[in-house]
Amino acid sequence: MGENLVSIKNVVKRFGKETAVNNLSFSIKKGSCTALLGPNGAGKTTTLRMLAGLLHPTSGKIEFDGKDNGDIRKYIGYLPQHPVFYNWMSANEFLVYVGQLANLSKAESQQKADELLELVGLLDARKKRIGGFSGGMKQRLGIAQAMIHEPKLVMLDEPVSALDPVGRREVIEMMRELKEKTTILFSTHVLHDAEEVCDDIVIIRKGELALSDSLADLRKKHQHDVITIEAETDIRDWANGLTAIESIHEVTTERTTATIVVTQLDVARNAILQDILMKNIPVSSFRIGQSSLEDVFMKVVKS
Ligand SMILES: Nc1ncnc2c1ncn2[C@@H]1O[C@H](COP(=O)(O)OP(=O)(O)OP(=O)(O)O)[C@@H](O)[C@H]1O
Ligand SMILES: [Mg+2]
Repeated sequence: MGENLVSIKNVVKRFGKETAVNNLSFSIKKGSCTALLGPNGAGKTTTLRMLAGLLHPTSGKIEFDGKDNGDIRKYIGYLPQHPVFYNWMSANEFLVYVGQLANLSKAESQQKADELLELVGLLDARKKRIGGFSGGMKQRLGIAQAMIHEPKLVMLDEPVSALDPVGRREVIEMMRELKEKTTILFSTHVLHDAEEVCDDIVIIRKGELALSDSLADLRKKHQHDVITIEAETDIRDWANGLTAIESIHEVTTERTTATIVVTQLDVARNAILQDILMKNIPVSSFRIGQSSLEDVFMKVVKS
């Protein structure tokens, strides 16, 4: 996948004396799902609002499909960080209303509303008042709203941050489906959310680019195999002694649990299993997994 749908080039946004976005450049590939990651105040919302055409950059340019002029709003769908709904409307009424605002006829709006209600899993709730919706339902309706005019790019500003685990799951699953239909850019301050759905990651910090890479490459560069062992007794002394084995990079322990970061899985696994047998360690579980990218994020954001 090569072609860029959007390129941001040296974009600066100042509010009075404050610089919210500073010389930011990155691109979004056609058909990709890109996560815009950063801590509070990093400039995520400001960046998305500029991309949505709601704010003008102080300097720099934004190219959409290779062009940097013309009204791009019709190609873009946007779900704000704190969407506001008319609580007295039903989900169906709301989508038909939004469709008409986007210049669709009433019939087209209704047809689109039906499709989207199905896509976001709100078909059964279509006649209910939005006021009675859960957070996850509102967020899914917000995503449907952003899709009404079949945009080429859908931007979602922290679509899962305000949700409980159930709502989060619903919205993440939905984004996976949405990915098949359009290019997505969404912001979050949680790397784990990004890891679940996106292909590319852009990390910003204090308005500046901190890192931009594909998730696959980030994993290749920073992710290690991890062996987690649980036992029936305190294994701290035994586990800490394992660092003597060459392919073991790091050991952290908590009474009956040891988390072991390894450089060569086969070698480390054999060595540890042999040691377990030799020393009669009462192991209750032996798991192999991968370290999280959260550490990378923390390092990039804090440095
Ligand atoms: N309209 C505005 N006027 C003045 N300053 C602003 C305005 N909008 C944003 N800022 C400032 O720009 C910086 C970036 O804010 P922004 O809302 O883009 O960050 P964010 O990454 O979206 O943060 P959060 O995770 O809290 O949503 C902040 O310091 C903020 O105070
Ligand atoms: Mg924000």
